[in-house]
Amino acid sequence: AGELRRWDGPLATVRSPVWLKDGDGERQVILGSAPLLDADTALTALDAAVAAYDKGRGAWPNMRVAERIQHVESFLARMREQRTAVVKLLMWEIGKNLKDSEKEFDRTCDYIVDTINALKDLDRRSSRFELEQGTLGQIRRAPLGVALCMGPYNYPLNETFTTLIPALIMGNTVVFKPAKFGVLLIRPLLEAFRDSFPAGVINVIYGRGRETVSALMASGKVDVFAFIGTHKAASDLKKLHPRPHRLRAALGLDAKNPGIVLPQVDLDNAVEEAVTGALSFNGQRCTALKILFVHEDVVEPFLDKFQRKLAALKPGMPWEPGVALTPLPEPGKVDYLDGLVADATAKGARVLNEGGGQSRGSFFYPALLYPVSRDMRVYHEEQFGPLVPVVPYRDLQTVIDDVLDSDYGQQLSLFGNDPETIGALVDIFANQVGRINLNAQCQRGPDTYPFNGRKNSAEGTLSVHDALRVFSIRTLVATKFQESNKQ
Ligand code: G3H
Repeated sequence: AGELRRWDGPLATVRSPVWLKDGDGERQVILGSAPLLDADTALTALDAAVAAYDKGRGAWPNMRVAERIQHVESFLARMREQRTAVVKLLMWEIGKNLKDSEKEFDRTCDYIVDTINALKDLDRRSSRFELEQGTLGQIRRAPLGVALCMGPYNYPLNETFTTLIPALIMGNTVVFKPAKFGVLLIRPLLEAFRDSFPAGVINVIYGRGRETVSALMASGKVDVFAFIGTHKAASDLKKLHPRPHRLRAALGLDAKNPGIVLPQVDLDNAVEEAVTGALSFNGQRCTALKILFVHEDVVEPFLDKFQRKLAALKPGMPWEPGVALTPLPEPGKVDYLDGLVADATAKGARVLNEGGGQSRGSFFYPALLYPVSRDMRVYHEEQFGPLVPVVPYRDLQTVIDDVLDSDYGQQLSLFGNDPETIGALVDIFANQVGRINLNAQCQRGPDTYPFNGRKNSAEGTLSVHDALRVFSIRTLVATKFQESNKQ
C-alpha cells in the first residue's frame, strides 16, 4: 500500500450474491473487478515486506511502540470515514444484512481501539524486575518478521483485521490477501493504508490463492501465517514452507459446534438461542451451532417451537429492514446444501419446515432436518450454511462419545437446568473445546476474551491480548550486576 500501483494485468469479475429483476427474469449483479495477480507479482509484494522488515533492522520493527500506535490511530481515523462505503460493500459483496454489516464495521473499530489499549498496557508492564539475586531482568516484546494475513469471507473485514492489526502494531511487516468474497470492500481503505504506514509495511495482494499464496509460502520468506479458513487449506499451505519449524501459525479453522439439549431445560430459551446460534448470517459463521442433539423427552416441543421461530425469520435483501435470511455469496453453495439435504432425506430424515431447502438463485431457505443420524453427511460435514440437523438421543453417553471422537473442537453449547449434569458435562468437555456455553449459543465475542479451539479447529489463541502475544516473541534481557555497578 506504500504506493498504490496501477494494475494493467488480468482481472477477476466480482459478482454479488444479489440477483435483481431484469425484464421478465433476474440477473446476478456484477459489482466490479479485482486484480488477478500471478505468482511473480505476489512475490514482489512479499519482497517489499521483507525489505521493510530488513531482518529486524527496518525502521518499522525498531520504531518506538508509542509511535507505531500513532500510525495505527491515524489509520483508524481514516477508516472511520469510510464506514458507509464499507458497510454498503459488506451487504452487496457477501449479502450480510445492514445491522450485522454495521456491527462488523463498528466491532472492527472497537477491536483496533482495544488492541491499542492492550499494547499500551503491555508496554507499561515491561519494566525491570529482579530475575534472581544479582541479576536484573527485562522482557522486551519483539516482532517476528513478515506476516501473511488472510481472513474469511464471512467476516472479511473483522476477522482479517483481528490478525492484521496485531501483526502490524507489534512491528511485523505484512502481506495481506483480502477474502475471496469481500475483496472490493478493502478498496475504500487502501489510501488510508498508504497514508498511514511507511512504504512496504503493508502490502495487499489479490488473486487465486493456489497460485499466489502457495508461491509466498514456498518462498520460505513468510514468518507468521495467519489464516482463517479450512483445516485442509491451512495444512496444505503450511506444508509448502521449506522451514515449517520456523513458521508461527495463527489459525482459525473448521468447526461443527454441537448444541446439546438436556431433558430438564428451559425450552423457550434453548430454542431462542439455537435458532440464532444456527442461523444468524445464514449459518455462515465458524461459531454457528452446526448440529443439535436433543433429548427424546423434549424433542417434539423443541422442534415445534423451533419451526415457529424459524417461520418468523424474514428473508430478503441485505439492506431491507429486519431481514434475517439473505443470499449466499459462495457460488456452488446452494448445490452443496441441496446435496446434503438429498443425502439426509434419502437416509430417512425429513425437512420439517414448510419451504425448507427450497432455493432460488443464490438464496437457500433454511431446512430443519430431522431425525438426523450418523450415516448422513450432514452429521459430519461442516455445512456452513442454513441447514439445521437435529439428532434425537436417549443415552447422553452417545452424545458425549460423539464430542470426544470428533475431529473438531471449537465450542459447544449445553442447554439444561440440572446443575449436577451440567457440572459433570463441563468437567468432561473442558478439555475438548475452546469454549463451553451454558444455556447460550456459541460465539466468538467479547473480543477481549480468548478465542481458540482444539483438534482441527484452531492453532493459537486470538483475542485482543492474546493476539499481541501471537505476533511477537518475548526476549529476556538479563543484566548481571557487576561490582562496579553496585557502587
Ligand atoms: O466465523 C467465525 C467467527 O469468528 C464468528 O464470530 O461468533 O462473533 O459471529 P461470531
